[in-house]
Amino acid sequence: MVNYKDLGLVNTREMFAKAVDGGYAIPAFNFNNMEQLQAIIKACAETKSPVILQVSSGARKYANQTLLRYMAEGAVEYAKELGWEHPQICLHLDHGDTFELCKSCVDFGFSSVMIDGSSLPYEENIALTKKVVEYAHQYDVTVEAELGVLAGVEDDVVAEESHYTKPEEVIDFATRTGCDSLAISIGTSHGAYKFKPEQCTRDPKTGKLVPPPLAFDVLEEVEKKLPGFPIVLHGSSSVPQEYVDIINSHGGNLPDAVGIPEDQLRKAAKSAVCKINIDSDSRLAFTAAVRKVLAEKPGEFDPRKYCGPARDEMVKLYKHKIIEVLGSDGKAE
Ligand code: G3H
Ligand code: 13P
Ligand code: ZN
Repeated sequence: MVNYKDLGLVNTREMFAKAVDGGYAIPAFNFNNMEQLQAIIKACAETKSPVILQVSSGARKYANQTLLRYMAEGAVEYAKELGWEHPQICLHLDHGDTFELCKSCVDFGFSSVMIDGSSLPYEENIALTKKVVEYAHQYDVTVEAELGVLAGVEDDVVAEESHYTKPEEVIDFATRTGCDSLAISIGTSHGAYKFKPEQCTRDPKTGKLVPPPLAFDVLEEVEKKLPGFPIVLHGSSSVPQEYVDIINSHGGNLPDAVGIPEDQLRKAAKSAVCKINIDSDSRLAFTAAVRKVLAEKPGEFDPRKYCGPARDEMVKLYKHKIIEVLGSDGKAE
């Protein structure tokens, strides 16, 4: 049993309480490799932003859970080396799907876990979430749950209203599970193709897709039912078109990739939303930078020469998100 407190990590409780009061959101950035982690820590150290480092199942398979946990432990020391005296870093399991997986993360030094029972029938989601909460709280590990279904990129149906979180369920769900935060569905989705062209309009000048707005009415209803309760948004990449254009003009092919406009995320961050998940934008920044270097310097074969610029681009992206979108800069001095 490893306690996250001994690793210098923190859970989400205090971060979220301050974020809800302060009208900003904590960045939750996924990491899969050293360059992403370095970029996240550098951006957060330079802006003094609290941060949630997320490890997905895909990341565990790609990079190994043990290695990722030690990397997060190293990240705390790296943050201090960069001059961030009191780093507030949470290590979080993203989309945990079983009690056993959540337990293994709690036992291994994670400070927060998500149990994603959103695809289960309501009562089963409650039972599974409650079981994880009861275990995790013994070690002061915080638990994120999910209610409502996010449209997936592979869905071949347009997301209906019924995919959204039902506000009338949230009090019962939060009370009976004891979860610390709740991910809701208001129209965001994972990946770089969040909306199908038929769900969007097209800007006649640029030819780019303009996505439909998020369901702020659902968010407001949830907020009324659970005042001050931490709400989480998954699938919140904005899919910056400058990266899509660089990728497409340097041998890539991402037609009609579209995300959530940043002004809508800023609006959400000012409300009860206190955790915003961003993964795809970092992948796009990385890929754009790598494609550019390799296209311009075909003789380059030292990974540091293309992973280095990719890392620099991700630092820029993370700082932009922290300062311009989430408003979490200066909140972890
Ligand atoms: O929620 C999805 C995250 O972007 C993680 O994706 O499972 O491909 O690592 P992944
Ligand atoms: P994006 O694919 O929009 O970056 O969402 C990431 C996410 O929700 C991770 O849980
Ligand atoms: Zn997610």
